[in-house]
Amino acid sequence: MRASIPHKSLTGSALLAVAGLLASVSAAMAEPPSRLAETGLYVDGTRTVRAENLPYAPQYPLWSDGASKRRWLYLPPGSVIDASDPDSWEFPVGTRLWKEFSHGRPIETRFIERLGDGTWQYAAYVWNADGTEALLAPETGVPDHQTDAAPGGHYPIPSREDCLACHEGAAKPVLGVSALQLSPDRDTDAVHAEALDPANLTLTDFVARGLVTNLPKALLDTPPRINASSPTERAALGYLHANCGHCHNNDGPLTLLDLVLAQNIASERDGTDDVRRTLLLKRSDFEMAGASLRVVPGKPEQSVLTLRMRARDALSQMPPLGNQVSDHEAIALIERWIQQHL
Ligand code: HEC
Ligand code: HEC
Repeated sequence: MRASIPHKSLTGSALLAVAGLLASVSAAMAEPPSRLAETGLYVDGTRTVRAENLPYAPQYPLWSDGASKRRWLYLPPGSVIDASDPDSWEFPVGTRLWKEFSHGRPIETRFIERLGDGTWQYAAYVWNADGTEALLAPETGVPDHQTDAAPGGHYPIPSREDCLACHEGAAKPVLGVSALQLSPDRDTDAVHAEALDPANLTLTDFVARGLVTNLPKALLDTPPRINASSPTERAALGYLHANCGHCHNNDGPLTLLDLVLAQNIASERDGTDDVRRTLLLKRSDFEMAGASLRVVPGKPEQSVLTLRMRARDALSQMPPLGNQVSDHEAIALIERWIQQHL
């Protein structure tokens, strides 16, 4: 159990709730299609993905209880992504993205689309057991969705408010399509990295096809890479960026917490600067298991950061959403990084 100092920790949760609420007001205006087949992912009447939906795989994936994933991006003909801010791309109206989650067979496909008024719409589609149909989940999600395919027979489908808590926690809602995530200089030590299928497009392919514009030239000459002192540190920062940085950054609703786990490729600074400044010997807003500092150099067992990654109760676990099972491989990496580098 954690002993929380109520007003501080409430600030964070309250901010998250407000962000979710505001965004759900705009998302509630138009209802997404009721069947995945109507979103334009597949050739009509088949499960063949349309050629104009481009497959890609971020180098640092989000942990989702061990599910494997496939992802696609669609841009309306003639439109381009503006990458002048390489960390936070601006996508054209009509952009669609899909992410399919499988445990042996597809269980859920998530979908986001940029609507005519510039807002984003979020939807989760749940697959039937024989893989012939995926239907829109209710806005509240399906917290107790049962399926033999998932470990433990249970696979919670997130609510739309959950989508927003993560996707609208950063400056822009598309989280896994950025210069760093698509860099051809992929981190071979990334936790749960998916082998790059040659069909998947990288930054180089997007630029060559004219789909990404205004990318700073330096990133074309030298593909982006986290500036770290060792492979362990690079992989640790990449993991924190992808799994925590969409909430813990300095331009979203949780800025007040002053906890930065996101990477900023556009800046000249070392990839660890903000992360170290906001972690090392910094007092946490509450104690956990007797620990009160976010990171104690060399001592992961006394650091709130790793204790909250290990925790699995709704109040203290990090990330707070989107997973039930601790990511042991990642915890081991972050602990090694604290022991060896901090
Ligand atoms: C725990 C946080 C979290 C929750 C909850 C969440 N997502 Fe995501 N989502 C991410 C992250 C991080 C990525 C990028 C990394 C990746 O693809 O592995 C992502 C990627 C995606 C993508 C691919 C486009 C992109 O942004 O990179 C889609 C589509 C998507 N999510 C839809 C949804 C929908 C719809 C919901 C709710 C039903 C949802 N997500 C809930 C964190 C979350
Ligand atoms: C969906 C958004 C979200 C994601 C993703 C997320 N967090 Fe958090 N985190 C919060 C909120 C909100 C708080 C403040 C409320 C609280 O303390 O529970 C918080 C608090 C924390 C704190 C305590 C802050 C302090 O005052 O010292 C730590 C440490 C932390 N998170 C680490 C992580 C790590 C590590 C990850 C990724 C493995 C992560 N978080 C992912 C939302 C998120």
